[in-house]
Order: sequence, then structure tokens, then C-alpha cells
Amino acid sequence: MLLSRNYRRKWSNPMLDPKIEAALNRQINHEMAAAYNYLAMSAWFEHGNLTGFASWMMSQRLEELTHAQKLLQYVLDRGGQIELDAVEKPKNDFADVHEVFALALEMEKENTETINDLYVMANELGDYATQSHLQWFLDEQVEEEKTFDEIKSLLEMAGDDRSALLYLNDKLGARAAAPKPAE
Ligand SMILES: [Fe+2]
Ligand SMILES: [Fe+2]
Repeated sequence: MLLSRNYRRKWSNPMLDPKIEAALNRQINHEMAAAYNYLAMSAWFEHGNLTGFASWMMSQRLEELTHAQKLLQYVLDRGGQIELDAVEKPKNDFADVHEVFALALEMEKENTETINDLYVMANELGDYATQSHLQWFLDEQVEEEKTFDEIKSLLEMAGDDRSALLYLNDKLGARAAAPKPAE
């Protein structure tokens, strides 16, 4: 710890509660785990020559790394400590593209739950700065779940039709390559 806790007590924002500090550190791990899973999914697609899906998943991976970084910076900005943990081994092999997106959607839903729990905790502790920071993540999760749900539904519509699958591969590839609007 670079600065004593007494020094930080002068700040108008209260010190990060150890419970919130630990939960934010766990959330960093969840975001890193999501990134690692999307990397595995991207590699699986690339191996199967579905390069559009592969580059889309690679973009998702980068987004998750950004989320982890955002949380890490927030903990540091509040004078908290970072304790990185091991990232769980991702699933590396899949039966088909449907399984990939079903798992991804499930993971996003779990992630929404942990962010909701964090928000509740921040509320109970009267930590409004953390609530405000988490607001961005709550909005992001709405987008994430919607996106994955849409792709999962399109894949269900495509079923076993290979030309529809290749069309979606192209479509997702084009979207991943498009420049993103500035935040
Ligand atoms: Fe995320
Ligand atoms: Fe996500």
C-alpha cells in the first residue's frame, strides 16, 4: 500500500469497503474469464474456417478485457488494492456453433447477476460512487445479452442450413471489422 489509509480518509469519498473491494476484484476475474472463454471460442471458429465468427468473438474478447481494465482502474482510483486470481480454464471444444452461442449467452446472464449483486452491495453500503461506476456495466449487460440472444435466435432460424450459416459468418465478420463509434 503506497499511501496510508489515514491519508486517504481526508477524501470526501469514503474508503472502499473491504467487501466491495473484494467483490470488485472478483468481478475483474469474471471479466477476464469471459475474455478467455471468448478467445477459446474465437480459436475454435478459426480452426473450423468460420473466420467471420472468429473475428467477432475476438472483438468480444477485447471488450471483456476493457471491462476488466475499467474495474481495475476504478479500484485503484478509489485507493483500493488489486488482487488478481487465477482465471478458470475455458471450454475449448464445442459440438456446433449453437452450443457456442448458448454458452456465451449463459455466461453473459451470469455476469449480469454478479454485477447486479455488486450494485445491491454498493447500495446497502451507501457507496454511491461505486453504484455510479456500475451503472455503465448494467447498461452494457443489457446490450450484451440482447446481442447474444439475437445471434442465438438467428442461428436457431438457420438450423442446419449451411448457406444460412455462411451468410451469418459473413455478416458477423463484416460487423466485427467495422469501426466502432467513439465512447
Ligand atoms: Fe463484460
Ligand atoms: Fe460481456
